[in-house]
Amino acid sequence: MVALDIVHASNAQLRELGPGLVALFVGGTSGIGEYTAKAFVRNTVSPHVYLVGRNAAAAERIIHECKALNHDGNVEFLKADVTELGEVDRVCQEVGKREKHINLLVQSQGNMTLKGRDENSEGLDRKFTLNYYSRMRFITNLLPLLRNATSTPPHFSRILSILSAGTEGRVNFEDLELKNTFSRMRCATHTIVMNDFMAEEFAAREPRTSFIHSAPLAVNTGLARELPLWARLPIKALSPLMAPFMVGADETGARQLFIATSGLFPPAKPAGDSVLAAGVPVPKGLSVAKGANGKVGSGGYLVNWNGEITGKEALLKEYHDKGVGKIVWEHTMGIFDRVEKINQAKADVK
Ligand SMILES: NC(=O)c1ccc[n+]([C@@H]2O[C@H](COP(=O)([O-])OP(=O)(O)OC[C@H]3O[C@@H](n4cnc5c(N)ncnc54)[C@H](OP(=O)(O)O)[C@@H]3O)[C@@H](O)[C@H]2O)c1
Repeated sequence: MVALDIVHASNAQLRELGPGLVALFVGGTSGIGEYTAKAFVRNTVSPHVYLVGRNAAAAERIIHECKALNHDGNVEFLKADVTELGEVDRVCQEVGKREKHINLLVQSQGNMTLKGRDENSEGLDRKFTLNYYSRMRFITNLLPLLRNATSTPPHFSRILSILSAGTEGRVNFEDLELKNTFSRMRCATHTIVMNDFMAEEFAAREPRTSFIHSAPLAVNTGLARELPLWARLPIKALSPLMAPFMVGADETGARQLFIATSGLFPPAKPAGDSVLAAGVPVPKGLSVAKGANGKVGSGGYLVNWNGEITGKEALLKEYHDKGVGKIVWEHTMGIFDRVEKINQAKADVK
């Protein structure tokens, strides 16, 4: 476990990256995304931050609170329902009009629901899309801006997907998108394994950027807000009992920011000769982490809430041997092609 004082000391060094870092937090209007965004604003010089979500009132509150954390920070809200990939594309275009580069993309969009398969207008399940397809679409669309960040000082380009690395299970390769075999449990398992393998696949293709899938442990957030009242009440009643087993808001923000920015998790081939291109220098006594493909410093990492490497080793080895990375990559690009055609047809009708 990386000690909390080491985490804070590392985050404080983010100031050495200089002014004007640009970061996008999808899911930054609540919970873990909000806490991580605030930790970023607190520890950087004149940062430019975008919060993506649906809740404008929450965004307004966070923007106000961020001003108190750092007067020179600039935090903006981009409203979008990212259960639709068309909306992801729209937001990315908006960001592309405003920014030449992005240094950090943090994604924590998600919900808790009792619904079964709930298809969006693009034929994808909405929860699956929050946990997985929207995240991969943001990364794919924003790669040019993340690459631009590697070509100018401080050459710093990082991606964090906060879901549940380390809780992998068996996947049904006959129905990866769960069109016919959906259950909430399978949705969790599929999206966790797919986030794992895409961190590795992207890292192999984009060696100047770090790709990380992390787990937050248990954090008291707004995650249950979409559940019916009868399901929310017992969660509320139990939360004081759960408190000793939960990670607090500030600690969560600090730890996820550390994971997102530390040189423990460097890109495979950091750009330029700047030391900071590999991330905030590795804390004394620690060493560069082993990537999801088993190679130290591979650029794609599965990281637990406490900064340690995670992942169900035996299962992931079996899946590596089976070529799951290629299977998941091709499936995802196939889904993107399919959805692009659907959205093009919708646009043609208008
Ligand atoms: N909390 C935990 O203990 C825990 C444990 C393990 C894993 N996780 C995972 O960590 C991630 C973050 O969870 P959290 O606890 O921080 O939850 P949270 O407080 O509910 O935050 C979820 C974020 O996702 C956004 N979001 C939800 N639906 C959206 C939509 N349709 N379009 C755009 N944005 C949407 C929400 O924004 P708006 O409401 O503004 O749309 C909010 O900013 C989730 O993937 C969750 O499964 C959490």
